[in-house]
Amino acid sequence: MSGDTSTVPIDLGERSYLVHIGPGEQARLGQRCRDAGLGRRAMVVSNPAIARHFGQSILTSLGRAEIDARLVTVVPGERAKKLATVGHLCDQAIAAGLDRGSFLVALGGGVVGDVTGFAAACLYRGVALVQVPTTLVAMVDSSVGGKTGVNCALGKNLIGAFWQPSLVAADLDALTTLPARERRCGLAEVIKHGAILDLDLFERLEEALVRRPAAGDFALTPRVGLSAELARYSVERSCRLKGAVVAADEREAGQRAWLNFGHTFGHALEKVCGLGRLHHGEAVSIGMVLAARLGVRRGELAGADSERLERLLAAAGLPIQVPRGTDPAALLAAMGHDKKVRDGRLKLVLLSRLGQAFVAGDTPTAMIEQLLNEASREA
Ligand SMILES: NC(=O)c1ccc[n+]([C@@H]2O[C@H](COP(=O)([O-])OP(=O)(O)OC[C@H]3O[C@@H](n4cnc5c(N)ncnc54)[C@H](O)[C@@H]3O)[C@@H](O)[C@H]2O)c1
Repeated sequence: MSGDTSTVPIDLGERSYLVHIGPGEQARLGQRCRDAGLGRRAMVVSNPAIARHFGQSILTSLGRAEIDARLVTVVPGERAKKLATVGHLCDQAIAAGLDRGSFLVALGGGVVGDVTGFAAACLYRGVALVQVPTTLVAMVDSSVGGKTGVNCALGKNLIGAFWQPSLVAADLDALTTLPARERRCGLAEVIKHGAILDLDLFERLEEALVRRPAAGDFALTPRVGLSAELARYSVERSCRLKGAVVAADEREAGQRAWLNFGHTFGHALEKVCGLGRLHHGEAVSIGMVLAARLGVRRGELAGADSERLERLLAAAGLPIQVPRGTDPAALLAAMGHDKKVRDGRLKLVLLSRLGQAFVAGDTPTAMIEQLLNEASREA
């Protein structure tokens, strides 16, 4: 850590990179790119709303470092995550004269990061990528680890590539313009990291949000959202935890799957409720509740741990119930299209205790069906 900035190394041999976390990181981006040995021509991808806030300062920073960059935008929201957007971005990059030594910069949340990352993996069979996350979800999760991709008619993130960035610059100042609902979505992913990997992180969040919600600088207030200290701690700790998992299991042969805790239920909820109605972090929040309850039903998780998780998610202002009117049969069918299905068996990430996850491929469908039926009736 130097001054206000923390640096988290992601150790992937020749493809290792640094995640810089701190206020003012966007202004330093040009120099960071030069330090990382990136080329002199770039295309910055964003959406119009994000570009309005940060586009010019990013171009200025790159320009000061003598990097010739242009800005292009994609439509806001999940609907940008489709193959046509990737083709369009590649066309624009080629037309702008980018070559194999050029790079793409993803300036935005997980949507911009995923689609730009996949475009970087495809353009000339792969150009360098820089992630400049502007949402909490992107800072604590999607900008690190190299998963890129788009959605298709049958589900989310089913088409994509592993493509690691060369550099991640998480500017905590960007969180000041982020709507409270989006901050809460980011907190869902931080809570996930605590629940699957780090009881200490979980308990710090509990302390701030459940036990002493109005106390001290570490608190989350309904109007302002995250305190600066909680944001910084959450981003740094999450990047370290995720970075260590990715370094050990980049292609998700083992422990990386834990990061999908809540996601199989969550992706199904997003699909059945209509992409966009539930934000990703909200769907993951409900998904984690369902996965924890399933663990209790299987006899592997204490009921008290499941309740603690539900209480923390609720205290963070996240939904913990399946939305009213959701068809449980449609949810079960949507889960069948998830990437976590192998040889027709649904692999689910469950908890054995808070801070410890495991993957189970042997849950009887009838048990999942019953859980979904009951959760839908509760709504
Ligand atoms: N690749 C991965 O490992 C990974 C991990 C988690 C999530 N994801 C994906 O990420 C996506 C969700 O990402 P997200 O939650 O960041 O949503 P998002 O990218 O849709 O951004 C949410 C909203 O916030 C706005 N916004 C972004 N930054 C802002 C800022 N600083 N100020 C004001 N408004 C801002 C955006 O315009 C958008 O409307 C999903 O598609 C999910 O599948 C990917």
